[in-house]
Amino acid sequence: MSFGLSRGRAYDTSEYGIEADDLPESDGASLDPRRLFAAADQPLEIEIGSGKGTFLVQQATIQSNANFLGIEWSREFYRYAADRARRNQLTNVLLLHDNGSEFIRFKCIAGVVDVLHLYFTDPWPKKRHHKRRFVQDDTMQAIHRVLTTEGCVHLVTDHDDLWAWYLDHANRHAHLFDQQPFRPPGSADSGEVVGTNFERKYRREGRHFHAMTLVRKPFCEEPADAS
Ligand SMILES: C[S@@+](CC[C@H](N)C(=O)[O-])C[C@H]1O[C@@H](n2cnc3c(N)ncnc32)[C@H](O)[C@@H]1O
Repeated sequence: MSFGLSRGRAYDTSEYGIEADDLPESDGASLDPRRLFAAADQPLEIEIGSGKGTFLVQQATIQSNANFLGIEWSREFYRYAADRARRNQLTNVLLLHDNGSEFIRFKCIAGVVDVLHLYFTDPWPKKRHHKRRFVQDDTMQAIHRVLTTEGCVHLVTDHDDLWAWYLDHANRHAHLFDQQPFRPPGSADSGEVVGTNFERKYRREGRHFHAMTLVRKPFCEEPADAS
């Protein structure tokens, strides 16, 4: 049991939280996360960096015909969100305590994720830390690999420099994804972009937000070498 964000209440993550070490054995990128859920045939949506689980719990409540996997590397947030999903008695939410980048690149099998949610990923503003940002050339390729044929990834940030980084990666990987406008999920409140904990906190401070959706292209031929 741990006590932190919960202000003294004990977390119970049983049946909702999965430690990375407890994932089924997989050889290479062969783990099928759909099989972690009781209703394994439902569409799968993954949020990487799910924080307190606000988006997951809200959206899973109104979208019971899909499964939601939150991947969070902070132990405190992971435990808080898993306990929150349990308290809400959601049968379509699980939390994984893992590095989302490693999960997408090295563990997850191809073609199984219908929607990937990236909401307010850490901006790592210093140039020497840019390599720690979630979106990189290799993650763009890994995201394309794990998405279903018509799957998509939603990106929302309040950070102007990270937004420029996203646009740059989306443009350089235009052979993999179509850029489309982001539409707020059904669980967002009126006037919200997505309605995560982070958005609600910083909207009060007057911050503005950027958002887009990248839809997986069915064919991914490399652009012709211009040289
Ligand atoms: C700024 S918070 C946003 C949380 C939530 N998405 C929201 O909008 O309220 C970023 C979260 O991503 C988590 N995180 C950052 N990099 C991660 C990674 N590679 N894998 C899993 N979680 C990550 C952090 O621990 C943190 O909880």
